Amino acid sequence: MRGIDELGDLRGQRVLLRSDLNVPLDGDTITDDGRVRASVPTIQQLTAAGARVVVMAHLGRPKGTPEAKYSLAPVAKRLGELLGADVAFAADTVGESARKTVAALADGEVALLENLRFDARETSKDDAERGAFAAELAELGDLFVSDGFGVVHRKQASVYDLAQALPHAAGLLVRAETQAFSKVLDDPERPYVVVLGGSKVSDKLGVIDNLLEKVDRLLIGGGMAFTFLKAQGYEVGGSLLEEDQLDTVREYLTRAADRGVELVLPVDVVVAADISADAATSVVPASAIPADQKGLDIGPATIELFRGKLADAKTVVWNGPMGVFELAPFAEGTRQVAIAVSEVDGTSVVGGGDSAAAVRQLGLDEDAFTHISTGGGVSLELLEGKELPGLTVLES
Ligand code: 3PG
Repeated sequence: MRGIDELGDLRGQRVLLRSDLNVPLDGDTITDDGRVRASVPTIQQLTAAGARVVVMAHLGRPKGTPEAKYSLAPVAKRLGELLGADVAFAADTVGESARKTVAALADGEVALLENLRFDARETSKDDAERGAFAAELAELGDLFVSDGFGVVHRKQASVYDLAQALPHAAGLLVRAETQAFSKVLDDPERPYVVVLGGSKVSDKLGVIDNLLEKVDRLLIGGGMAFTFLKAQGYEVGGSLLEEDQLDTVREYLTRAADRGVELVLPVDVVVAADISADAATSVVPASAIPADQKGLDIGPATIELFRGKLADAKTVVWNGPMGVFELAPFAEGTRQVAIAVSEVDGTSVVGGGDSAAAVRQLGLDEDAFTHISTGGGVSLELLEGKELPGLTVLES
């Protein structure tokens, strides 16, 4: 995978840079700017080298036409603040505004195009349609740099086809992310412990399947733990349960035992009748969840159990919160597990999406982890062992 340094002299070159700036917004306010911050080092490297940087990104999942609520305008503003420089904003992707904005760039300046997904060809399943959009984008640049790690699992025009249309390289973020994941997937130091959480076990089937072949211990919390508990014969009250996954989960329990993988489930649970910030909570054994209560976080004994299983780990991957961490009564499990992961004497990688958001929302020290991914779905696909089109294309 080529790096930016291998693209030659960048002075005066128009560099089309694919970033992942898909951030959560509340109106015009960015509620977690982690991905915007993560895009900055590559942009700075390009501008310092005298390139004219044309950033391309998507926001949300608009249906192929412009929609004000999915505009990248607030992101252009935040990016400008973080860069300490103006970011020119084009009101379209390959139209007149984009052409004029790019033409007006001087060496070392930055522009951001409007949401790529306002053009249906960006996400089209039809190769010719995507190729046509990529060709129009390619007219706006001389070189392509892929740095939107969060979208490299998507076979989309700005991720995949554009790399075939222009000389290309991987940006700093894509390189750092791929290195972090290849370390934990291909060459983990042992003990190797993976902590999985999140609401649905059905979202993590491929991950469990792949990791059962690699890890020494698999700790399971979050909503998905209840399907495991039920598979072990416990009643889970009103907790999240995926009945249709019970057979699969039983098979995982058997496989883990056969392979000598320690599969560790919660032994106690924080329960409440309702999911609310002022819910009355109690802690019950995982084997005695009352019928009228929901399990919404792991309990203190489980926190201690998980801490113990992490204490001697040399490699840890954590993906998915342990409970409904957005609400204070159910945040402690996620907080304590995150701290235990950060204290590991070895490599600690936090999957993107909810786990990365939890680290920031709970005010934890981001630098205490070896790597916090910006990728949500993509980190799951990597953990599933899949090949990703946006990375494969960069090898060509
Ligand atoms: C993400 O948020 O995981 C990435 O930006 C990809 O977005 P998508 O799932 O809508 O393709």
